[in-house]
Amino acid sequence: MKTLLVTGCAGFIGSNYCRYVLQKDADARVIGLDALTYAGNLSTMHDLKQNTRFCFYPGKIQDDTVVSGIIQAEKVDYIVNFAAESHNDRSLLNPAEFIQTDVAGVFTLLDATRKFGLRRMLHVSTDEVYGSTIDGRFTEQTPLEPNTPYSASKAGGDLQCRAHHIAYNTPVVVTRCGNNFGPWQYPEKLLPFFITRLIDNRRVPLYGDGSQVRDWVFVEDHCSGIHHVLEHGEPGQVYNIGADGEQTNIAVTRMLLELLGKPESLIKHIPDPRGNAHDRRYSIDASRLKSLGWQPEHEFSASLECTVKWYSSRQNWWREILAKPDYQAFIKRFYGKYLGEDL
Ligand SMILES: NC(=O)c1ccc[n+]([C@@H]2O[C@H](COP(=O)([O-])OP(=O)(O)OC[C@H]3O[C@@H](n4cnc5c(N)ncnc54)[C@H](O)[C@@H]3O)[C@@H](O)[C@H]2O)c1
Repeated sequence: MKTLLVTGCAGFIGSNYCRYVLQKDADARVIGLDALTYAGNLSTMHDLKQNTRFCFYPGKIQDDTVVSGIIQAEKVDYIVNFAAESHNDRSLLNPAEFIQTDVAGVFTLLDATRKFGLRRMLHVSTDEVYGSTIDGRFTEQTPLEPNTPYSASKAGGDLQCRAHHIAYNTPVVVTRCGNNFGPWQYPEKLLPFFITRLIDNRRVPLYGDGSQVRDWVFVEDHCSGIHHVLEHGEPGQVYNIGADGEQTNIAVTRMLLELLGKPESLIKHIPDPRGNAHDRRYSIDASRLKSLGWQPEHEFSASLECTVKWYSSRQNWWREILAKPDYQAFIKRFYGKYLGEDL
């Protein structure tokens, strides 16, 4: 039996990955570690906790005592790191926390991987480290040009991985994926934010004219790509994960209106709070990973429809989050002056 330490297991992609591994590999145990920040919820792991091959520890990845203790107690073989401060807009408000988790935390995990001779660490990163591109696609050789405190903190973590591999031969691989969507995503991110508001007939605040392009990946494809890299990737390498899912934000918003049967008048264009820091376009070339035998399996519009159905049927989960003071304070802070009474 192999034992994976999955950090960030109470968040969106980390919880989906735990489900994916437990279902795909009967020979795997999953040890979850999560600091349960505003983005990590015990309710997101409710089903996981029923599985005898899953167990959960609360704690921070930058806490060496916690990380070392778990690795020794649970005889961990692999680390898959999803733990991060992950929201661009929040990074404009409080960038220091991003450095702690996304840079110092990654360093702690790398050091533990080396110190305890683990088989491999996989660090989950993002296409946002490449910055923005007008035309062309991001390959793994594209220079890192992050434009927000979030993407800069992620680039810092990626470079710690690179240096650790070169200096100490630490067996680490890095993945960089586009914007994810699917079940269990915290409802401050664009898609679940808009879906949950539209279900309640509330207006959705769209930054600028909505012409920004994102390269969308259904979360199950991201999970399968990560697992493929964990099993087949070469230590020290970076692998982009993409599914040819480029869409403008306005096009995605209109698809949501159509799926939910809502009028165009629910779109409220607002000034872009990221200003110059808002990347115009992401576009991923995933051919390196595809050459290892991986393919995405989910088409964008069909997966979007499944996602809308999931949020429509799991209202208890997201309504509990919407009721939390932190969520309401964030929405008010960012959108209050544009949405008025319609918060
Ligand atoms: N969401 C996307 O579209 C996307 C795309 C590409 C890459 N990524 C990357 O994937 C990873 C997961 O993203 P997500 O969308 O699931 O994020 P998320 O915000 O939903 O989840 C992050 C989880 O990490 C936990 N966490 C935060 N700080 C921690 C710390 N110091 N120690 C332990 N746990 C901590 C939170 O409690 C939360 O459960 C991130 O590294 C992100 O950069 C996300």
